[in-house]
Amino acid sequence: MRVLLTGADGQLGRCFQDRLPVGWVIRETDAKTLDITDSLAVFAEVDSFKPDLIVNAAAYTAVDKAESESEIASLVNVDGARNLANAALRVNAKFIHISTDYVFDGNAVTPYQETDVTNPLGIYGKTKLDGELSVLAVNDESIVIRTAWVFSEYGNNFVKTMLRLGVDRACLGVVADQRGCPTYAGDIANAILLLVQNSNVKGGIYHYCGDKDVSWFEFAEAIFKQAKMVGYSGSPEVKGITTKDYPTPAARPKYSILNCQKIKQYSGIEESDWRTALAAICIKLI
Ligand SMILES: NC(=O)c1ccc[n+]([C@@H]2O[C@H](COP(=O)([O-])OP(=O)(O)OC[C@H]3O[C@@H](n4cnc5c(N)ncnc54)[C@H](OP(=O)(O)O)[C@@H]3O)[C@@H](O)[C@H]2O)c1
Repeated sequence: MRVLLTGADGQLGRCFQDRLPVGWVIRETDAKTLDITDSLAVFAEVDSFKPDLIVNAAAYTAVDKAESESEIASLVNVDGARNLANAALRVNAKFIHISTDYVFDGNAVTPYQETDVTNPLGIYGKTKLDGELSVLAVNDESIVIRTAWVFSEYGNNFVKTMLRLGVDRACLGVVADQRGCPTYAGDIANAILLLVQNSNVKGGIYHYCGDKDVSWFEFAEAIFKQAKMVGYSGSPEVKGITTKDYPTPAARPKYSILNCQKIKQYSGIEESDWRTALAAICIKLI
């Protein structure tokens, strides 16, 4: 299997490389080596490398910044995704694209299914939704995985932010009225590998996230509990606050739990056991 990976320096990109099966050949690219918004560069890359699989782990992921940078967010998340879908079609490669729970508005009361109505609250979610639509319009055999609250030992994420702030601050206010499912990027990488090796899996949208929902406040508590068990020096008091107490440029869904039955049914992939992953990451980071 020859794999072209974009966004290789991001959380998912790094975790995917760590899990590459023996014998697979990878061409890992990032913003510096392959800008996915440059269609000619993308086509030249696939023409020379001739991948069997393209995994798009590249994205504009700055949710708040996107509110004032809608053009660049759209270029990366829509045009970039479309370029890769076109390139995959050109060389008959499978295409895996990643999307987000932020395509929903969070007004649901039961976990979102793939067929539920989307209604993003912000620019990031809107560009990710438009990216999904354009990828599937180019080729309905593309696989789009919507995931949520991604963390890992790499890059920037909530776990690393909490651990950094917890050392310096005696008290941390964390939003307690938004719920979601933390998802370990390594588990997303494993899910991708299982999906592409299963010939029964059809193109379309699949939800994949953590196996237990929490608020950001509860997630923070779990992080500090786990970190303390492995010798973390911080000991902040964590207080639950409301979204109103912590205004951000982009609105976020208050409920963004994804129903993962479809991916389980098609390929037996279990949801991300994020608490086990969190324990392993705390050992690495502390
Ligand atoms: N993080 C989350 O909580 C979350 C939640 C739901 C869904 N997702 C989705 O999951 C996927 C992976 O997320 P992640 O957390 O691994 O993201 P990440 O850590 O932010 O990595 C994204 C990577 O894409 C690169 N990139 C940006 N613009 C590019 C361009 N024009 N061409 C090529 N590469 C470019 C970035 O490079 P630079 O850093 O140099 O810009 C970065 O290395 C994304 O599709 C994201 O939307 C993430």
